Amino acid sequence: MAPPRKLHIKSYGCQMNVYDAQRMVDVLAPEGFVETATVDDADLVILNTCHIREKASEKVYSELGRLRLARDEAASSGRRMQIAVAGCVAQAEGEEIVRRAPVVDVVVGPQSYHHLPQLLARAEETGRALETEFPVEDKFGFLPQPRPETIRARGISAFVTVQEGCDKFCTFCVVPYTRGAEVSRPVSAIIDDVKRLADNGVREITLIGQNVNAYHGEGPDGRAWTLGRLLSRLAAVPGIVRLRYSTSHPNDVDDELIEAHRDLDALMPFVHLPVQSGSDPILAAMNRKHTAADYRRVIDRFRAARPQIAFSSDFIVGFPGETEADFVATLALVTQIGYAGAYSFKYSPRPGTPAADMQEMVPAAVMDERLERLQQLIDSQQSAFNKAAIGQTVDVLFERAGRKPGQIVGRTAYLQPAHVFPGPMFLGPGMAPDSLVGQILPVRVDSLERYSLLGELAAKPPQHARPLAATGA
Ligand code: SAH
Ligand code: SF4
Ligand code: F3S
Repeated sequence: MAPPRKLHIKSYGCQMNVYDAQRMVDVLAPEGFVETATVDDADLVILNTCHIREKASEKVYSELGRLRLARDEAASSGRRMQIAVAGCVAQAEGEEIVRRAPVVDVVVGPQSYHHLPQLLARAEETGRALETEFPVEDKFGFLPQPRPETIRARGISAFVTVQEGCDKFCTFCVVPYTRGAEVSRPVSAIIDDVKRLADNGVREITLIGQNVNAYHGEGPDGRAWTLGRLLSRLAAVPGIVRLRYSTSHPNDVDDELIEAHRDLDALMPFVHLPVQSGSDPILAAMNRKHTAADYRRVIDRFRAARPQIAFSSDFIVGFPGETEADFVATLALVTQIGYAGAYSFKYSPRPGTPAADMQEMVPAAVMDERLERLQQLIDSQQSAFNKAAIGQTVDVLFERAGRKPGQIVGRTAYLQPAHVFPGPMFLGPGMAPDSLVGQILPVRVDSLERYSLLGELAAKPPQHARPLAATGA
């Protein structure tokens, strides 16, 4: 048998790229590829790229510059290193990538990952292979399932893509062009994936999609199912104790999703609901198709269904034409909602998007100043949210052993990291702290260390607890 070839993948951008990287590993595993953590010993390096802002996109070229040196180094010791560019820059720039960086062997768009083995082989023969069309077949039908040992090695929390692409065409955004039109996977395929993950130790599933709550996949009854209905079905899969979903659009929040938050204990009360701006004229120019008041009403519906729900969001400052008054409306919205956290970005004009042709660019210094003010407000809300946990007993799903001996690390419902030293009185004889991985246990929070909660177990774990790997659970 040929020795395994080594594969190094570097991912940028969103959760979907993290998920896609795993699927690329799964597609290449039967070809004899195993993952390596470094570029230096890799036979194949894949850059899984993001096109969302100029900075993200340009990173690829500096990385390719470094890879050229690594490849020369490998060649000098008689080893051939292949270099592939995947992800949204591959989709958006295609041949332009090889023009700027001839070191690249393969360019592959996000809808063609199932063709990677053939593309690598073609590049081997002819020197280069590109595929950035949207193929007629659905890649999900062709991507192999991960091996049980691979699922276990990836941990107790997993992403599952249920929807891909976007039909919203916000005027600033490249996603509808890089990921294509909105497509939902069928319910049965998602249930199969989730069962397989649960059978191999996964306890928490995050359903992902660029517009995940626009989900409308075909159900076993032949009808289109909503995200809320899908979540209810997945909550019944044995072993799954936590469900999340990301990223949602305010306009696609329907009653079934709200009811899922009311009815499902497994559905975490933490929702990422980007609003981008608090100013109606800017929201209109962004083609968001909702006002700030519409957004507040959506938040109110969630809160009425589940009072302990918390939110995060994304914001863009300095969209073309944004005035001080527009920006103050954003600050006002943030103050009204009160977030557990949020991401904020300076507007970056993207080639081919309608906003890139808009005049009235906001000067860089003004953007910097607005970003600073917004981030200060969000940071203060986030610290207040985290501080409120002190003295409370919160449920933590334990994920892995901590860096310090005897420590174990997990997350709360709100994704706050929690660090605990269970100590001998909580662990039965011969039980290591990581035997708690995969369990939800109450933790009394004593203090904060930056964004992490520190505390103690508030109840003994069940004494049958054993490491997941040993139970085959
Ligand atoms: N599909 C998700 C995520 C889109 S990208 C959604 O619809 O929310 C993640 C975030 O990047 C967006 O929410 C937006 O805040 C930001 N973003 C997108 N395009 C941008 C641009 N041209 N400049 C700055 N930020 C941008
Ligand atoms: Fe981009 Fe808007 Fe679609 Fe989100 S909803 S992916 S911001 S076009
Ligand atoms: Fe970036 Fe593409 Fe995700 S542009 S944010 S990697 S969908």
